[in-house]
Amino acid sequence: MDPEIIEKVMQELENYPPGMGEIEGVALLKGVCDVWDTVYNFQARDGDIVVASYPKSGTTWMQEILDLIVQDGDVEKSQRALGFIKVPFLEMGHTSLEVANTMPTPRVLKTHLPIQLMPPSFWEKDVKMVYIARNPKDCMVSYYYFYKMDQTLPDPETWDNFFSTFLKGSLAWGDWFDHVTGWWKARDEHKILYIFYEDMIEDSRRELCKVMRFLGKDFSEDVVKKILHHTSFKAMKANPMINFSVFSESIFDQSVSSFMRKGTVGDWKNHFLVSQNIIFDNEYKKKMEGSGLEFRTEV
Ligand code: A3P
Repeated sequence: MDPEIIEKVMQELENYPPGMGEIEGVALLKGVCDVWDTVYNFQARDGDIVVASYPKSGTTWMQEILDLIVQDGDVEKSQRALGFIKVPFLEMGHTSLEVANTMPTPRVLKTHLPIQLMPPSFWEKDVKMVYIARNPKDCMVSYYYFYKMDQTLPDPETWDNFFSTFLKGSLAWGDWFDHVTGWWKARDEHKILYIFYEDMIEDSRRELCKVMRFLGKDFSEDVVKKILHHTSFKAMKANPMINFSVFSESIFDQSVSSFMRKGTVGDWKNHFLVSQNIIFDNEYKKKMEGSGLEFRTEV
């Protein structure tokens, strides 16, 4: 991969405009809002594959799985470039769009956009998308540590403050409830495979096979094992191509928290106060009732 592009991505992130903005009522990073017209007019291609999610739901895990499936399980090929180069983050900035536009087909693209903000060309091209969803309690905890570590994001201040902002739907990429239910409803009309983080933790082989079938692939036992090994938490945490260790502390300060932090279900129990848990469960009930969606907060 062209070192100039890597340098350009780094530069873009080093100089990422601080602060937040809004597109159609959805809270987004100012940097995303600044490039919004270009993002919305992005031209999808036949054969593109998208990994979509609310932040901190296992996107990087799924993106590595998708890339390995596309590369027929060839681990060497999957190491051809840093994770955020080989799977461009659609709405992040001009450079990721530039990388995406110059990539050969089939491309794997990452987005955190809620369904209503997806560029229309993805629907026109009937692109296959894998949506990965995670229970909101663990998602919130993971996002809290990410906010503290990612120096381009506003300071989350206290956990209590972060908890309220999450419930208000004001964190970057908006309201978790709208996000997961919006993509859930859309799966009847579009080629969307909806996967749960908790299911992947419970049985990663079963979920990997679902994704393979969705993409029309069937691999030998050896290849399946190789993919599972390479995408295990331990292997990904140790993999400099995917663990974000290439970023300087001025972008991702991993002395605060590592990107590959815990990779478990249930860490919320170490963070939610009893009172917060009651408030959260009430909100969850109100907002998710009748959605048909069910999340597990333990496995
Ligand atoms: P934690 O902070 O709870 O550890 P995203 O990629 O959407 O930002 O999600 C990041 C979360 O997914 C982090 O959660 C990270 O540790 C977890 N994760 C990444 N790769 C994983 C893997 N291979 N297995 C389990 N969890 C993984």
